[in-house]
Amino acid sequence: MRLLVTGGCGFIGTNFIYHMLGTNPDVEIVNVDKLTYAGNKANMIPLEQSEEGKRYAFCRADIADMDAMRAIIAEHKPDAVVNFAAESHVDRSIHDPSPFVTTNVLGVQTLMTAAMDAGIERFVHISTDEVYGTLAPDAPAFTEGHPLEPNSPYSASKASADLFVRSFWKTYGYPAVITRCSNNYGPWQFPEKLIPLMITLAEQDKPLPIYGDGMQVRDWIYVTDHCRGVEMALKAGRPGAVYNFGGNAEKANLDVVRAILSAMGKPDDLISYVKDRPGHDRRYAMDYSLAKDELGFEPLYDFERGLAETLAWYTDHRAWRDSVQSGEYRSFMDDWYGERR
Ligand code: NAD
Ligand code: DAU
Repeated sequence: MRLLVTGGCGFIGTNFIYHMLGTNPDVEIVNVDKLTYAGNKANMIPLEQSEEGKRYAFCRADIADMDAMRAIIAEHKPDAVVNFAAESHVDRSIHDPSPFVTTNVLGVQTLMTAAMDAGIERFVHISTDEVYGTLAPDAPAFTEGHPLEPNSPYSASKASADLFVRSFWKTYGYPAVITRCSNNYGPWQFPEKLIPLMITLAEQDKPLPIYGDGMQVRDWIYVTDHCRGVEMALKAGRPGAVYNFGGNAEKANLDVVRAILSAMGKPDDLISYVKDRPGHDRRYAMDYSLAKDELGFEPLYDFERGLAETLAWYTDHRAWRDSVQSGEYRSFMDDWYGERR
């Protein structure tokens, strides 16, 4: 099977490519990535130097560029598309929603049109639990039938893309599949997201910024469990279906940060409460029983094991962390956290 994977130089895409090439000897991958601030081509150097790297190719391109998408598909003739490419950070979407519309909405419509016109029968679109909005503390977890109630420009753009994917199935019979997952963590996550940011700051004994009261709840999933779920959806997903994935690990942000500090032997007084994120969702939780029943999906990692492996990876990859924190990254972080003090 030849796959076209988009956004493969970002966090989850990188993990997915390593996972798929490492566990499927018959899979070849073409990675299409625009290399935004969040994309790092160097993630693939160990792969390119390995035996599996012979089944891997890279194209720098924008999924919103129709000519480029048509040309790449004509050249590589993939059997399936897995779309991870996105603007993915909620805080950046609050700062400036425009690139979120361009990539997450127009980009998905463009890529899907190019794939459909070329007769590619498998298209997996990676979405998020954030499209469902927020849950009360005692409400049941999100099912796939929950209304779409996005609260940030990021989640609005992801929900819009999901509606386009749905409409392509209903209108043209294009057999795309949507996956919606909860918060991922693990190797190669960009240090603007909660867990890698807190590890990076704690290591330097800098204050750890907690938004609001820190009691917002996320359902944490180790990234390779998400990758396994995407693989199942790719191989066995029902055309037109939506599948939720979760990690069985609902935790308040404050507890996550305390667990990081404790594992690193750092004091709790590094915690610093800052102004809340506008429109901040209070709680996410995923009911993944459909994926369990239809695909056999079940997360394998518990949070303690996942966090220990993540901490070990970040400790061993300081050079990677330094290399991805570009000037653009630093100026966004200075602006955003400067406003929150
Ligand atoms: P990321 O920000 O780490 O990586 C995104 C990648 O997409 C980068 O390599 C970037 O260069 C690339 N990209 C951005 N715009 C592009 C464009 N126009 N054309 C081609 N490439 C482009 O994101 P991530 O955390 O790996 O998330 C991947 C996908 O999974 C996203 O669709 C996101 O919405 C979804 N998701 C993420 C999480 C999470 O916890 N991180 C959870 C659920 C779903
Ligand atoms: O739920 C899935 C989503 O998870 C994905 O769709 C998004 O792409 C991904 O970025 C993530 O979104 P969140 O907003 O939940 O993740 P983030 O790591 O930005 O924040 C996690 C929680 O921690 C959230 O409640 C905000 C809080 N937080 C975050 C940062 C960066 C803080 O309290 N302080 C911080 O400095």
